[in-house]
Order: sequence, then C-alpha cells, then structure tokens
Amino acid sequence: MVDTRLEPTPAPSSGPGSKSGTAQAWPDFSVIPPVWSRITNISVERGEGSWLITPDGDRYLDYSSGIGVTNTGHAHPRVAAAIAAQAVKLLHGQQNIVYHEPGLRLHERLRHVLPGDDWSAFLSNSGAEAIEAAVKLARIATGRPVIIGFRGGYHGRTAQTMALTTAKDVYRGHFEPLPGSVYHTAYPYCYRAPGGSHDPAACTCDWEAQLDLTFHQLIYPEHVAAIIVEPILGEGGYIVPPPGFLPRLREITRQHGILLIADEVQTGYGRTGRFFAVEHWAVEPDILVMAKGIASGLPLSGLLAKRKLIEKWPPGSHGGTYGGNVVSCAAANATLDVIEDEQLVENAAVRGMQFLAGLRDLATRYPSIGDVRGLGLMLALEFIRPGEGDGRVPDPNLTKRLLAEALERKLIILSAGTYANVARIIPPLVTSAAEVDLALSILDDSLAAAGA
Ligand SMILES: Cc1ncc(COP(=O)(O)O)c(C=O)c1O
Repeated sequence: MVDTRLEPTPAPSSGPGSKSGTAQAWPDFSVIPPVWSRITNISVERGEGSWLITPDGDRYLDYSSGIGVTNTGHAHPRVAAAIAAQAVKLLHGQQNIVYHEPGLRLHERLRHVLPGDDWSAFLSNSGAEAIEAAVKLARIATGRPVIIGFRGGYHGRTAQTMALTTAKDVYRGHFEPLPGSVYHTAYPYCYRAPGGSHDPAACTCDWEAQLDLTFHQLIYPEHVAAIIVEPILGEGGYIVPPPGFLPRLREITRQHGILLIADEVQTGYGRTGRFFAVEHWAVEPDILVMAKGIASGLPLSGLLAKRKLIEKWPPGSHGGTYGGNVVSCAAANATLDVIEDEQLVENAAVRGMQFLAGLRDLATRYPSIGDVRGLGLMLALEFIRPGEGDGRVPDPNLTKRLLAEALERKLIILSAGTYANVARIIPPLVTSAAEVDLALSILDDSLAAAGA
C-alpha cells in the first residue's frame, strides 16, 4: 500500500510583510483556510514571463504556470494592457442583458480555433463550470442520461464534476453521495498496464475490452449521452495515451450515437504543441471544453460544439451571471493575438522536444525515474522504488523531496498521479531555450539532492 496522504506543507503563521520594521505588514497567512492544500509558502508580488518575483526581489522559475494557466507568461504586457483598457470602460456587461464587442469578437474567433466549420462557443468562468455545461448539453441533445468517464480522470470539484473525477480519492472521497448515472472505464496507461510496462507505440492495454465490458455489465450504450476524455490525463499523472486510442474511441462513440467530450482544460491552448491536443490524432470531438490558458489568468472557460448541437439548448436552460465577462473576453482576445503573433504553439512543440530529450537523459542516470513522458510543454517524471516489487512501486516521498529540492533552487514544479508519485512540469509557452536548460540543470541537482 502506498500512502499518498503525505504531510501537507505547513503554512508559517506570518506573511512576508509582518516582519518587524516592514512599513505595510501583510495579513497573517492563517487567514487562508487549510482547504487550499499548499504547494509552496512563497508570497509573490509580481510576475513576468516565466518568472514569479517575491516582495524581496527573489525570482522563481515558474514551471507550474499556475497549474497550466499562464501560457502567455505572467502578466504579458499586451494582455495586461487589454485588460486595463477594458476595465476603465466596462467591468460587467451581463450576457443575458447586453452585447459587448470583446465578447462578440471572441465568440467569432473561437468558431475558427478548431479545424472544420460551424463551431460555436459557450462561455463560462471555470473549468468545472464548463464541464457541467458540456454534461448538460450532451444530456439535452441526446435525450440520454448516462456519462462515462475514465479512471484517473480529473474534471473538477463541483458535485457533477466530482462524480466524473477519479484521479485521486481526496477529490471525491469525503463527499458521497455523488450525482449518479456516471460510470468509469479504463484509460490506457502503458507504464502501469496489468501485463507490464510497454511502449505506447505497441500498446497492449485492454481499454477497449474494458469499455465493452462496461457496456455489457453496467450500462447499455444506447443510454449513454457522452464519453468524456482528457486527450492526455492531467491530474491523473500526465499520461499520454497510445496513438490509436482517441481515433478508436471516436469510432466506437459514433457507432453507438454517443457524443465525445474532449476535456482540453489542461491540454488546450497550445500546451501540447498543437492548439488543441485532439489535433495530434486528427480526432473531432462533439464537444470540446477549454479553460486555463484561455484568458492568461482571468477567470474564463467555455465549450465548443457544432452550431446544430449547441442550438439544442433551449434559451434559459443554461447560463450564469458572469459567463463571458467583458474584461475576461478582452484578455482572451489579447491572449489569442499573443499566441498567434509570437508563434507560441510552435514554441511549445520545439521547447517540449528539448525538455523531453533532457528528461530522458536524466532518466539514464537516476534509477528512481521509472517513466518519462509528455507532449509539448506537458511533461512528467514518474518515480518508483527501484528493485522493489515488480519494479514499478510508486514513490510519492521521493517526488515530494524532489519538489522541495527544486523549490530550494527556485524552480516551481508540481506533483500529479493517483499515488502522487509523478512530478509534472508545465512551463509557460513563452519559455526560452536558456530557461529550459536552466530548469534541466536544477532538476539534475535536485534529483541528486533528493536521493533519486
Ligand atoms: C482536465 C481538467 N478538467 C477540468 C478542470 C477543472 O478546472 P477548474 O479548476 O478551473 O474548475 C481541470 C483543472 O485542473 C483540469 O485539469
């Protein structure tokens, strides 16, 4: 048994400015409730590009991107200027009541971010809220009740999205009963396949047989409204599926009249070296959910669906006070401009290959690295205890030590995975070759210091 309930990072009782002699004392850290599990105890004042800067001027290389959000880097000047310009004109132009130019422009641009035509966008505030919207749309459009998700998936922490989430017990375990008519099936996790680790290019995972069993043991396929899938599992451990997975899933869903929802909240907006990850496999979902990178940090999310599908939502059957907020829309338009003008999707692909090659090199020298994987700038190291069990026993404690050693050296990375034994690296898409080299050298030192 692997104990993943690691000691939380204790929050010191005082903030940075409460040191004696500081002119403007910050409130005590304890004002923040402990439900916000903590990754670091650093306080920041500013951010620029790949860097977070403390009130004392210490600079941290932020390869968490605020959990995959700051794809254009922190406080990109063009995004910040667009926000400032909009904020002095109008802060709230409620979607049911008025139209505004930033919102109309964004809806129009989002019609063209996926290949193909007739796409239409619906905007909301958070990833979970957009997933809720996708579930409602799938149910109303098909008249069917059931949603199937994948084991290890993460879709949020509202009631419906908790029911879909199985990345880790803590996200849902305290909150039964959860909404029903939700079932889970196996995701192809080649490193932890029951028959042994194998190369995804020659995948022998039995996900398709498991889905077939789900249809024969749990639920009739004709009662299933949608299957929701992360093209690459995020919180579940940055698991890149084998190349045939999504295309085959698309075939199966079409065969049964089931909608395919691609949750691109973490993989979208250039993160994997394509604008959306589904493009790697030329798969067209029925509904695509986006958030995180969409507005460079302002709260905004949404879904894309074909016009004919989205029109099945009767007026008033879904919505929200803040959906498509005008300032967030201005930020989202500027974000799209920056992604295009600075060729950030291409940069993610190139920097991703540089990083992956460096991580693979590290793996040859540190036996506790069981697996290296990633696509674009969505990268991971999975840690194991060499020589124990079947050679794949998860090592969450080493992962925790690595994160702490990296932080000591002013590099911020995160953990992931059901057993919290995956270090995930999420650089902003603006990151440079020199920054990637710096991160690799810090990781090298940190792995040595952590006893990898
Ligand atoms: C794949 C995926 N879906 C949904 C969500 C939920 O997004 P939010 O935290 O904005 O509600 C996340 C958040 O990490 C995510 O990674």
